[in-house]
Amino acid sequence: MNEVLKKYPSATREDLLDILHDIQESDPHHFLSDEVLTDVASHLGMDLADIKGTASFYSMFSFSPRGKHVIRICDSPPCQLLGATTVLQKLIEVLGVAVGETTSDGLFTLETSSCLGMCGVAPAMMIDNETYGNLTPSRIVEIIERIRREDETS
Ligand code: FES
Repeated sequence: MNEVLKKYPSATREDLLDILHDIQESDPHHFLSDEVLTDVASHLGMDLADIKGTASFYSMFSFSPRGKHVIRICDSPPCQLLGATTVLQKLIEVLGVAVGETTSDGLFTLETSSCLGMCGVAPAMMIDNETYGNLTPSRIVEIIERIRREDETS
C-alpha cells in the first residue's frame, strides 16, 4: 500500500483530493501513476474510472512523470495583459523546452495554469509550492539560475 494511504486509515471519498494531493507531493516525479490510482480506488472503495475522472478535472494533477521542479505559469487574461506571454517565452528559451515538457536533466517541467490567485502581482507563477509575482524576463533568468545553482550544491 502507498505510504500516504496509511495516513488515511478510515478515508472516505471526501478525502480523495487531499489523498491525491499528498501522494503527488510525495512522489519524486510529482505524478499519479495508474498503479497508485488503483490503490486509492481500492482503499476508498471507489471505481478507478471515477477517481481518474475526478482527478483529471484538476490541472494540478499529472498522470505522467514530471521534473524535480514543476513550474506553473498563469496564462489567464489578467496575467497575459501584464506580460505573461513574454515571460513564458523567456521560460521556454531559458529551459529549452515547450509547455508540457521536462528539461533533459529532469530538473524542470514547464506547465501553464489558470489563475493562481495572485492577480495583484501579475504576471505570476509557482515553482513547486513557492509563488513568484511581478515577473519579468530578467527575473525569470535570475530565478532559474538560482534554482539550478541550489540544486548543484544540494
Ligand atoms: S490571472 Fe494570473 S494569477 Fe490571477
